Amino acid sequence: MQLRKIVIAIDGYSACGKSTTAKEVARILGYRYIDSGAMYRAVTLYFLDHHIALTNPKEVARALPMINLSFKVNAKGGTDTFLNGLSVEQEIREMRVSDQVSQVSAIKEVREAMVAQQRKLGKEKGIVMDGRDIGTVVFPQAELKVFMLADMMVRAYRRQQELLAKDVLVNLNEVLENIRKRDEIDTSRTESPLRKAEDAIVIDTTHITVNEQVDEVIRLAITHMVKQA
Ligand code: CDP
Repeated sequence: MQLRKIVIAIDGYSACGKSTTAKEVARILGYRYIDSGAMYRAVTLYFLDHHIALTNPKEVARALPMINLSFKVNAKGGTDTFLNGLSVEQEIREMRVSDQVSQVSAIKEVREAMVAQQRKLGKEKGIVMDGRDIGTVVFPQAELKVFMLADMMVRAYRRQQELLAKDVLVNLNEVLENIRKRDEIDTSRTESPLRKAEDAIVIDTTHITVNEQVDEVIRLAITHMVKQA
């Protein structure tokens, strides 16, 4: 029996395990993983490095065509984000980017440009994409939609550990404040705010392990595929 490929959309709050889960689910299913947040982060990095005034829509519109984003699978099997041909995978995770990314992501022109690219990347099925508006805006027809959440303190601690593993030491309060602020901007913006799609399945990751999160998404995906077969 040949299982039909599907689109899996994983949305949710900052640092609740979306990317970790999405990457592993993609690996197990042999799907492509696309980190939409990395795209917004790369645009933010470009704006910061080129001193683009976020409040000036003309300047933003002029800068967007200068930004070329691509992804490449690295030696460890992960995906690196490239901005105009250069890997920015490390830089886009820095706090200076995290501090600005939600303001940049709230800009209409930025969202239009990114959503268009994301839809192109997901033209063929067999993808897992994570973000804030994947199930609501980018792929409203996705066969499986997951909405992740977790306790704020747990999220801050996990993100701090993740940064530490990359030799970036950030104070827990700074991380906590950053995710609190991003949640606030992401949920209250006018353009595609973060919200659960009506048909999304909620996974609270506060008390579960990464393996349990991954197993749950795989179980949901397989259940769907078998029903469709
Ligand atoms: O990994 P983390 O949860 O910290 O965030 P991310 O997925 O890297 O996304 C960074 C930021 O990009 C979010 O806080 C949102 O402001 C924005 N974003 C968005 O607006 N729409 C998406 N589909 C993905 C990210």
